[in-house]
Amino acid sequence: MESMNLVSGFGIDLGTANTVVCHPRRGIVLNEPSVMLVSTDGDRKRPIVVGRQARELIGRTSAGMVAVRPLRDGVITDLESARTFIVSVLRKVTRKPWERIRPRAVIGVPAGATALERRALVEAADEAGFGRVMLIPEPIAGAIGSGIDPLAPRAHMVVDVGGGTAEVTGFCYGGILTTRSCRVAGDEMTLALYQYLRQEHQIVVGELTAEDVKMRVRDDDECSLVVEGRDAATGRPKLITLRAEEVIEAIKPTSDGIIQILAACLEDLPPQAVGDIMRDGLLAFGGGSLLKGFTQLLEDAFGFPLRVAERPLTCVAEGAAICLAEEKVLRAYAA
Ligand SMILES: Nc1ncnc2c1ncn2[C@@H]1O[C@H](COP(=O)(O)OP(=O)(O)OP(=O)(O)O)[C@@H](O)[C@H]1O
Ligand SMILES: [Mg+2]
Repeated sequence: MESMNLVSGFGIDLGTANTVVCHPRRGIVLNEPSVMLVSTDGDRKRPIVVGRQARELIGRTSAGMVAVRPLRDGVITDLESARTFIVSVLRKVTRKPWERIRPRAVIGVPAGATALERRALVEAADEAGFGRVMLIPEPIAGAIGSGIDPLAPRAHMVVDVGGGTAEVTGFCYGGILTTRSCRVAGDEMTLALYQYLRQEHQIVVGELTAEDVKMRVRDDDECSLVVEGRDAATGRPKLITLRAEEVIEAIKPTSDGIIQILAACLEDLPPQAVGDIMRDGLLAFGGGSLLKGFTQLLEDAFGFPLRVAERPLTCVAEGAAICLAEEKVLRAYAA
Protein backbone atom coordinates (compact mmCIF):
# COMPACT_ATOMS: atom_id res chain seq x y z
CA MET A 1 0.00 0.00 0.00
CA GLU A 2 1.15 3.53 -0.76
CA SER A 3 2.85 5.83 1.72
CA MET A 4 0.40 7.37 4.16
CA ASN A 5 2.59 10.37 4.98
CA LEU A 6 0.89 12.88 2.76
CA VAL A 7 -2.62 11.54 3.05
CA SER A 8 -5.19 13.57 4.90
CA GLY A 9 -8.82 13.01 5.77
CA PHE A 10 -10.68 10.39 7.75
CA GLY A 11 -11.95 6.85 7.31
CA ILE A 12 -15.38 6.58 8.89
CA ASP A 13 -17.65 3.70 9.88
CA LEU A 14 -21.05 5.11 10.79
CA GLY A 15 -22.67 2.04 12.28
CA THR A 16 -26.09 1.49 13.76
CA ALA A 17 -24.47 0.66 17.08
CA ASN A 18 -21.02 2.30 16.96
CA THR A 19 -19.25 5.03 15.06
CA VAL A 20 -15.53 4.58 14.48
CA VAL A 21 -13.21 7.13 12.89
CA CYS A 22 -9.67 6.36 11.77
CA HIS A 23 -7.02 8.87 10.74
CA PRO A 24 -4.36 7.64 8.30
CA ARG A 25 -1.52 8.51 10.68
CA ARG A 26 -3.10 8.92 14.11
CA GLY A 27 -5.05 5.65 13.95
CA ILE A 28 -8.42 5.32 15.69
CA VAL A 29 -9.45 8.78 16.85
CA LEU A 30 -13.04 8.03 17.82
CA ASN A 31 -14.95 4.89 18.80
CA GLU A 32 -18.30 5.62 20.42
CA PRO A 33 -21.90 4.47 20.37
CA SER A 34 -24.01 6.11 17.63
CA VAL A 35 -26.46 7.65 20.06
CA MET A 36 -27.46 11.20 20.95
CA LEU A 37 -29.55 12.37 23.82
CA VAL A 38 -31.74 15.22 22.59
CA SER A 39 -33.96 17.64 24.40
CA THR A 40 -37.55 17.58 23.22
CA ASP A 41 -38.48 20.91 24.84
CA GLY A 42 -39.13 23.53 22.18
CA ASP A 43 -39.55 22.86 18.46
CA ARG A 44 -36.00 21.99 17.50
CA LYS A 45 -34.33 18.88 18.75
CA ARG A 46 -31.20 19.98 20.57
CA PRO A 47 -28.45 17.44 21.35
CA ILE A 48 -27.49 17.37 25.01
CA VAL A 49 -24.83 14.69 24.91
CA VAL A 50 -23.50 12.52 22.11
CA GLY A 51 -21.80 9.13 22.07
CA ARG A 52 -20.65 7.18 25.11
CA GLN A 53 -22.23 9.49 27.68
CA ALA A 54 -25.54 9.40 25.84
CA ARG A 55 -25.53 5.62 25.78
CA GLU A 56 -25.00 5.40 29.51
CA LEU A 57 -28.18 7.41 29.96
CA ILE A 58 -30.40 5.08 27.91
CA GLY A 59 -33.23 3.89 30.12
CA ARG A 60 -32.24 6.41 32.78
CA THR A 61 -33.55 9.69 31.39
CA SER A 62 -36.33 11.91 32.66
CA ALA A 63 -39.14 13.42 30.61
CA GLY A 64 -38.09 16.01 28.03
CA MET A 65 -35.12 13.97 26.83
CA VAL A 66 -35.01 11.20 24.30
CA ALA A 67 -32.25 8.99 22.97
CA VAL A 68 -31.89 9.15 19.18
CA ARG A 69 -29.99 6.74 16.98
CA PRO A 70 -29.20 8.62 13.77
CA LEU A 71 -28.61 5.42 11.80
CA ARG A 72 -30.68 2.34 11.39
CA ASP A 73 -29.32 -0.77 9.71
CA GLY A 74 -26.29 1.23 8.64
CA VAL A 75 -28.26 3.88 6.76
CA ILE A 76 -29.58 7.29 7.70
CA THR A 77 -33.06 7.42 9.18
CA ASP A 78 -33.45 11.15 9.63
CA LEU A 79 -31.27 13.65 7.83
CA GLU A 80 -31.33 16.30 10.52
CA SER A 81 -30.27 13.97 13.33
CA ALA A 82 -27.59 12.45 11.12
CA ARG A 83 -26.17 15.87 10.26
CA THR A 84 -26.13 16.91 13.93
CA PHE A 85 -24.42 13.68 14.85
CA ILE A 86 -21.76 13.97 12.13
CA VAL A 87 -21.06 17.60 13.09
CA SER A 88 -20.30 16.43 16.61
CA VAL A 89 -18.10 13.59 15.30
CA LEU A 90 -16.12 16.05 13.17
CA ARG A 91 -15.64 18.33 16.16
CA LYS A 92 -14.40 15.45 18.32
CA VAL A 93 -11.84 14.14 15.81
CA THR A 94 -10.22 17.42 14.83
CA ARG A 95 -7.85 19.15 17.20
CA LYS A 96 -7.09 22.36 15.32
CA PRO A 97 -9.66 24.68 13.72
CA TRP A 98 -7.98 24.44 10.30
CA GLU A 99 -8.37 20.66 10.36
CA ARG A 100 -12.10 21.30 10.28
CA ILE A 101 -11.98 22.99 6.90
CA ARG A 102 -13.72 20.45 4.72
CA PRO A 103 -11.54 17.38 5.40
CA ARG A 104 -11.83 14.46 2.98
CA ALA A 105 -13.74 11.40 4.09
CA VAL A 106 -14.12 7.83 2.96
CA ILE A 107 -17.24 6.47 4.61
CA GLY A 108 -18.37 2.85 4.76
CA VAL A 109 -21.88 1.97 3.51
CA PRO A 110 -23.62 -1.40 3.48
CA ALA A 111 -22.95 -3.08 0.13
CA GLY A 112 -26.70 -3.41 -0.28
CA ALA A 113 -27.51 0.29 0.34
CA THR A 114 -29.78 1.88 -2.26
CA ALA A 115 -28.81 4.89 -4.38
CA LEU A 116 -31.14 7.04 -2.30
CA GLU A 117 -29.57 5.88 0.96
CA ARG A 118 -26.10 6.60 -0.40
CA ARG A 119 -27.10 10.05 -1.51
CA ALA A 120 -28.58 10.83 1.91
CA LEU A 121 -25.31 9.86 3.57
CA VAL A 122 -23.16 11.97 1.24
CA GLU A 123 -25.52 14.91 1.73
CA ALA A 124 -25.47 14.63 5.52
CA ALA A 125 -21.66 14.40 5.62
CA ASP A 126 -21.33 17.28 3.19
CA GLU A 127 -23.70 19.51 5.17
CA ALA A 128 -21.91 18.55 8.38
CA GLY A 129 -18.67 20.01 7.00
CA PHE A 130 -16.80 17.25 5.21
CA GLY A 131 -15.47 17.85 1.73
CA ARG A 132 -15.06 15.26 -1.03
CA VAL A 133 -16.98 12.44 0.56
CA MET A 134 -16.55 9.00 -1.00
CA LEU A 135 -18.47 5.89 -0.05
CA ILE A 136 -16.90 2.46 0.07
CA PRO A 137 -18.83 -0.77 0.68
CA GLU A 138 -18.27 -1.82 4.31
CA PRO A 139 -17.31 -5.43 3.46
CA ILE A 140 -14.55 -4.15 1.18
CA ALA A 141 -13.32 -1.67 3.79
CA GLY A 142 -13.36 -4.34 6.51
CA ALA A 143 -11.44 -6.74 4.29
CA ILE A 144 -8.80 -4.11 3.50
CA GLY A 145 -8.56 -3.24 7.20
CA SER A 146 -7.90 -6.94 7.84
CA GLY A 147 -5.13 -7.20 5.25
CA ILE A 148 -7.04 -8.57 2.24
CA ASP A 149 -6.42 -7.02 -1.18
CA PRO A 150 -9.79 -6.72 -2.96
CA LEU A 151 -8.09 -6.09 -6.31
CA ALA A 152 -6.29 -9.45 -6.31
CA PRO A 153 -7.55 -12.11 -8.73
CA ARG A 154 -8.73 -14.34 -5.92
CA ALA A 155 -12.25 -14.56 -4.50
CA HIS A 156 -12.94 -13.76 -0.87
CA MET A 157 -16.04 -13.81 1.25
CA VAL A 158 -16.69 -11.78 4.37
CA VAL A 159 -19.51 -11.77 6.89
CA ASP A 160 -20.15 -8.60 8.85
CA VAL A 161 -22.40 -9.03 11.88
CA GLY A 162 -23.11 -5.52 13.12
CA GLY A 163 -25.75 -4.15 15.44
CA GLY A 164 -28.58 -3.70 12.97
CA THR A 165 -27.63 -5.80 9.96
CA ALA A 166 -25.66 -8.83 9.00
CA GLU A 167 -24.17 -8.72 5.55
CA VAL A 168 -22.39 -11.39 3.52
CA THR A 169 -20.36 -10.32 0.50
CA GLY A 170 -18.19 -12.15 -2.01
CA PHE A 171 -15.72 -10.13 -4.07
CA CYS A 172 -12.78 -10.54 -6.41
CA TYR A 173 -10.58 -8.46 -8.71
CA GLY A 174 -12.23 -5.11 -8.12
CA GLY A 175 -15.80 -6.34 -8.38
CA ILE A 176 -18.55 -7.56 -6.07
CA LEU A 177 -19.69 -11.08 -6.96
CA THR A 178 -22.60 -11.31 -4.59
CA THR A 179 -24.00 -9.57 -1.54
CA ARG A 180 -26.94 -10.30 0.70
CA SER A 181 -28.02 -8.90 3.99
CA CYS A 182 -30.53 -9.57 6.70
CA ARG A 183 -31.82 -7.10 9.21
CA VAL A 184 -31.14 -9.32 12.17
CA ALA A 185 -27.79 -9.04 13.88
CA GLY A 186 -26.28 -8.12 17.26
CA ASP A 187 -29.16 -6.00 18.52
CA GLU A 188 -31.62 -8.71 17.60
CA MET A 189 -29.50 -11.15 19.61
CA THR A 190 -29.80 -8.80 22.60
CA LEU A 191 -33.57 -8.63 22.16
CA ALA A 192 -33.81 -12.42 21.85
CA LEU A 193 -31.90 -12.78 25.09
CA TYR A 194 -34.17 -10.24 26.80
CA GLN A 195 -37.23 -12.21 25.75
CA TYR A 196 -35.64 -15.50 26.78
CA LEU A 197 -34.92 -14.13 30.26
CA ARG A 198 -38.47 -12.93 30.61
CA GLN A 199 -40.06 -16.16 29.43
CA GLU A 200 -37.77 -18.76 30.92
CA HIS A 201 -36.65 -17.02 34.09
CA GLN A 202 -39.47 -14.52 34.70
CA ILE A 203 -36.98 -11.70 35.02
CA VAL A 204 -37.15 -8.31 33.31
CA VAL A 205 -33.85 -6.54 32.65
CA GLY A 206 -32.82 -3.27 31.01
CA GLU A 207 -31.52 -3.11 27.44
CA LEU A 208 -27.98 -2.39 28.62
CA THR A 209 -28.06 -5.32 31.05
CA ALA A 210 -29.22 -7.74 28.35
CA GLU A 211 -26.39 -6.61 26.07
CA ASP A 212 -23.87 -6.84 28.87
CA VAL A 213 -24.92 -10.43 29.65
CA LYS A 214 -24.56 -11.34 25.97
CA MET A 215 -21.04 -9.88 25.83
CA ARG A 216 -19.94 -11.48 29.09
CA VAL A 217 -20.45 -14.98 27.71
CA ARG A 218 -17.33 -14.54 25.71
CA ASP A 219 -14.83 -15.08 28.49
CA ASP A 220 -16.80 -17.16 30.95
CA ASP A 221 -16.92 -20.45 29.18
CA GLU A 222 -18.21 -23.01 31.63
CA CYS A 223 -19.34 -20.79 34.42
CA SER A 224 -22.74 -19.27 34.80
CA LEU A 225 -23.62 -15.59 34.79
CA VAL A 226 -25.44 -13.66 37.44
CA VAL A 227 -28.21 -11.45 36.06
CA GLU A 228 -29.92 -8.69 38.00
CA GLY A 229 -33.36 -7.37 37.16
CA ARG A 230 -36.94 -7.25 38.31
CA ASP A 231 -39.36 -10.08 38.85
CA ALA A 232 -41.76 -10.12 35.87
CA ALA A 233 -44.76 -10.76 38.11
CA THR A 234 -44.13 -8.85 41.33
CA GLY A 235 -41.78 -6.12 40.10
CA ARG A 236 -39.40 -6.78 42.99
CA PRO A 237 -35.62 -6.90 42.46
CA LYS A 238 -34.51 -10.36 41.41
CA LEU A 239 -31.24 -12.21 40.85
CA ILE A 240 -30.82 -15.30 38.74
CA THR A 241 -27.95 -17.36 37.39
CA LEU A 242 -27.83 -18.14 33.70
CA ARG A 243 -25.76 -20.79 31.99
CA ALA A 244 -23.64 -19.78 28.98
CA GLU A 245 -25.35 -22.40 26.78
CA GLU A 246 -28.67 -20.75 27.46
CA VAL A 247 -27.41 -17.57 25.80
CA ILE A 248 -26.32 -19.51 22.72
CA GLU A 249 -29.72 -21.20 22.70
CA ALA A 250 -31.54 -17.87 22.95
CA ILE A 251 -29.71 -16.34 20.00
CA LYS A 252 -30.06 -19.42 17.77
CA PRO A 253 -32.86 -17.95 15.59
CA THR A 254 -30.65 -14.97 14.77
CA SER A 255 -27.69 -17.06 13.76
CA ASP A 256 -30.01 -19.22 11.62
CA GLY A 257 -30.93 -16.10 9.63
CA ILE A 258 -27.26 -15.37 9.00
CA ILE A 259 -26.59 -18.98 7.99
CA GLN A 260 -29.36 -18.69 5.41
CA ILE A 261 -27.92 -15.64 3.66
CA LEU A 262 -24.47 -17.20 3.72
CA ALA A 263 -25.80 -20.31 2.02
CA ALA A 264 -27.57 -18.20 -0.61
CA CYS A 265 -24.38 -16.20 -1.30
CA LEU A 266 -22.37 -19.37 -1.79
CA GLU A 267 -24.93 -20.58 -4.32
CA ASP A 268 -24.57 -17.33 -6.26
CA LEU A 269 -20.85 -17.85 -6.78
CA PRO A 270 -19.12 -19.52 -9.72
CA PRO A 271 -17.37 -22.79 -8.72
CA GLN A 272 -13.84 -21.39 -9.07
CA ALA A 273 -14.66 -18.67 -6.57
CA VAL A 274 -16.14 -21.17 -4.12
CA GLY A 275 -12.86 -23.10 -4.35
CA ASP A 276 -10.87 -20.01 -3.33
CA ILE A 277 -13.16 -19.39 -0.38
CA MET A 278 -13.10 -23.00 0.80
CA ARG A 279 -9.34 -22.90 0.81
CA ASP A 280 -8.90 -19.48 2.45
CA GLY A 281 -11.95 -19.58 4.70
CA LEU A 282 -14.44 -16.86 5.49
CA LEU A 283 -13.55 -13.67 7.29
CA ALA A 284 -15.97 -12.48 9.96
CA PHE A 285 -16.07 -9.06 11.59
CA GLY A 286 -18.48 -6.68 13.31
CA GLY A 287 -19.35 -6.86 17.00
CA GLY A 288 -21.67 -9.83 16.57
CA SER A 289 -18.77 -12.01 15.39
CA LEU A 290 -17.33 -11.74 18.90
CA LEU A 291 -20.17 -13.68 20.47
CA LYS A 292 -18.81 -16.89 21.87
CA GLY A 293 -20.01 -19.95 20.01
CA PHE A 294 -21.15 -17.96 16.99
CA THR A 295 -18.26 -18.78 14.67
CA GLN A 296 -18.54 -22.41 15.72
CA LEU A 297 -22.20 -22.42 14.67
CA LEU A 298 -21.23 -21.16 11.20
CA GLU A 299 -18.34 -23.57 10.82
CA ASP A 300 -20.57 -26.46 11.79
CA ALA A 301 -23.14 -25.39 9.22
CA PHE A 302 -20.72 -25.05 6.29
CA GLY A 303 -17.73 -27.18 7.07
CA PHE A 304 -15.14 -24.66 6.05
CA PRO A 305 -12.97 -22.46 8.20
CA LEU A 306 -14.02 -19.08 9.47
CA ARG A 307 -11.66 -16.62 11.05
CA VAL A 308 -12.62 -13.57 13.05
CA ALA A 309 -10.76 -10.40 12.05
CA GLU A 310 -8.04 -9.26 14.39
CA ARG A 311 -9.88 -6.00 15.10
CA PRO A 312 -13.52 -6.83 14.29
CA LEU A 313 -14.94 -3.57 15.66
CA THR A 314 -12.57 -1.15 13.94
CA CYS A 315 -11.42 -2.83 10.70
CA VAL A 316 -14.06 -1.06 8.56
CA ALA A 317 -12.90 2.41 9.64
CA GLU A 318 -9.25 1.35 9.32
CA GLY A 319 -9.85 0.02 5.81
CA ALA A 320 -11.70 3.21 4.86
CA ALA A 321 -8.71 5.27 6.07
CA ILE A 322 -6.35 3.13 3.98
CA CYS A 323 -8.60 3.80 0.96
CA LEU A 324 -7.89 7.54 1.23
CA ALA A 325 -4.56 6.73 -0.43
CA GLU A 326 -5.75 3.93 -2.69
CA GLU A 327 -7.01 5.52 -5.87
CA LYS A 328 -7.33 2.15 -7.59
CA VAL A 329 -9.54 0.69 -4.89
CA LEU A 330 -11.71 3.81 -4.88
CA ARG A 331 -12.04 3.68 -8.65
CA ALA A 332 -13.11 0.04 -8.48
CA TYR A 333 -15.43 0.10 -5.50
CA ALA A 334 -16.33 3.64 -4.39
CA ALA A 335 -19.54 5.30 -5.37
N1 LIG B 1 -18.01 -9.19 22.84
C1 LIG B 1 -19.18 -9.20 22.22
N2 LIG B 1 -19.97 -10.29 22.22
C2 LIG B 1 -21.15 -10.29 21.61
N3 LIG B 1 -21.67 -9.25 20.95
C3 LIG B 1 -20.94 -8.12 20.92
C4 LIG B 1 -19.66 -8.03 21.53
N4 LIG B 1 -19.18 -6.77 21.33
C5 LIG B 1 -20.11 -6.13 20.62
N5 LIG B 1 -21.17 -6.91 20.38
C6 LIG B 1 -22.41 -6.57 19.66
O1 LIG B 1 -22.06 -6.11 18.37
C7 LIG B 1 -23.01 -5.15 17.93
C8 LIG B 1 -22.29 -3.90 17.45
O2 LIG B 1 -21.39 -4.27 16.44
P1 LIG B 1 -20.78 -3.18 15.45
O3 LIG B 1 -20.15 -2.08 16.21
O4 LIG B 1 -19.96 -3.93 14.48
O5 LIG B 1 -22.13 -2.67 14.76
P2 LIG B 1 -22.35 -1.42 13.80
O6 LIG B 1 -21.29 -1.43 12.76
O7 LIG B 1 -22.50 -0.21 14.61
O8 LIG B 1 -23.77 -1.79 13.18
P3 LIG B 1 -24.19 -2.00 11.65
O9 LIG B 1 -23.01 -2.58 10.94
O10 LIG B 1 -25.37 -2.93 11.73
O11 LIG B 1 -24.59 -0.66 11.18
C9 LIG B 1 -23.92 -4.85 19.09
O12 LIG B 1 -25.16 -5.50 18.90
C10 LIG B 1 -23.15 -5.43 20.28
O13 LIG B 1 -24.04 -5.90 21.29
MG1 LIG C 1 -20.97 -2.15 10.84
